Amino acid sequence: MTQLVQLNMPPVSPAPTAGPLTDSFGRVHTDLRISVTDRCNIRCFYCMPEEGAQFSPISELLSFAQIERFVRAARDLGVTKIRLTGGEPLLRPGLTELVSKLSDMTGIRDLALTTNGVLLARHAKPLFDAGLRRLNVHVDTLDRERFRTISRRDDLGRVLAGIEAAQAVGFPIIKINAVAIKGLTEPDVVPLVEFGRKNGVEVRFIEFMPLDAQHLWSLDRVLTADEMIAVLEREYGPLRPVPDADPRAPATEYEFPDGYRMGFIASVSRPFCMNCNRLRLTADGKMRYCLFANEETDVRPLLEGEDRFAELSAAIRATVWQKWIGHEINRVSFQPPSRPMYSIGG
Ligand code: 5AD
Ligand code: SF4
Repeated sequence: MTQLVQLNMPPVSPAPTAGPLTDSFGRVHTDLRISVTDRCNIRCFYCMPEEGAQFSPISELLSFAQIERFVRAARDLGVTKIRLTGGEPLLRPGLTELVSKLSDMTGIRDLALTTNGVLLARHAKPLFDAGLRRLNVHVDTLDRERFRTISRRDDLGRVLAGIEAAQAVGFPIIKINAVAIKGLTEPDVVPLVEFGRKNGVEVRFIEFMPLDAQHLWSLDRVLTADEMIAVLEREYGPLRPVPDADPRAPATEYEFPDGYRMGFIASVSRPFCMNCNRLRLTADGKMRYCLFANEETDVRPLLEGEDRFAELSAAIRATVWQKWIGHEINRVSFQPPSRPMYSIGG
């Protein structure tokens, strides 16, 4: 057995009962991703099956009151940053109410939302008015045909209208997430960066990860950050790596000669697990310490009322404490998690 496998054994000591929210490797956790629904209105092949996606019954989704209870407990343990995800979060009825509650919550310094943008034109203003300021919109291509191939829907126009609407209402930070697939999205690298430069949005290319429902992923379908950098440098000349402002942020950023910044989330070719400060709550109330974790903690029973707050805090601490040293995507023995991306939350 290699050392990595041994390090991925659960810690022998119990979780601390006070102090920062830390795992057994000393990584302090401040960043919480919450999935508010596992449903989606498009069907990106790197995430969902074309037909027959398995969704949780609506009655099993956490209520907003339960989500808020979780956030309060996590905040009291040191979480300061929240990202709402899905599935597609804008499909969750009344989402602006949750945004408004979370953006007003003392101690939450940063609230962000990841959306596929299809419904954004309609929701941009209510979300902004509810206090949201940071948006990530995922757009893998500006080519209508390729958008259709990837998402099995013809919605590129609506996504672009959504970004425009978000800019018009004044969102100061809009980022584009583009999943990069070898043999498919190479022609999108330069046009997306051009779009970003022209519209003042930061583009981040995400390496394809083994989280798709149909297990189509393989290492040779990963378009790596280095390969994309080579494409960009042929077009624009040398890119300057930006020294990490926040070493725990997953993106590595690069600056163009004119000052435009973009980045890569190179989870496969440059794993950043050692800097990870993230924990996750699924729409059906399971807490996870990693996208790729094979285990999760059912916290829903602890979210029913206020009287189990102490148990909830202990469960959060214990789950983070169980965190492994890192994912094993690059190992032959890698087993994808039992849930695909849409049911975990990106
Ligand atoms: N690999 C990489 N990124 C993915 N996303 C969804 N599935 C995958 C995958 N298999 C991205 C989406 C979205 C974010 C939530 O996760 O594009 O931006
Ligand atoms: Fe929907 Fe996002 Fe999955 Fe695409 S990646 S199918 S938009 S949840």
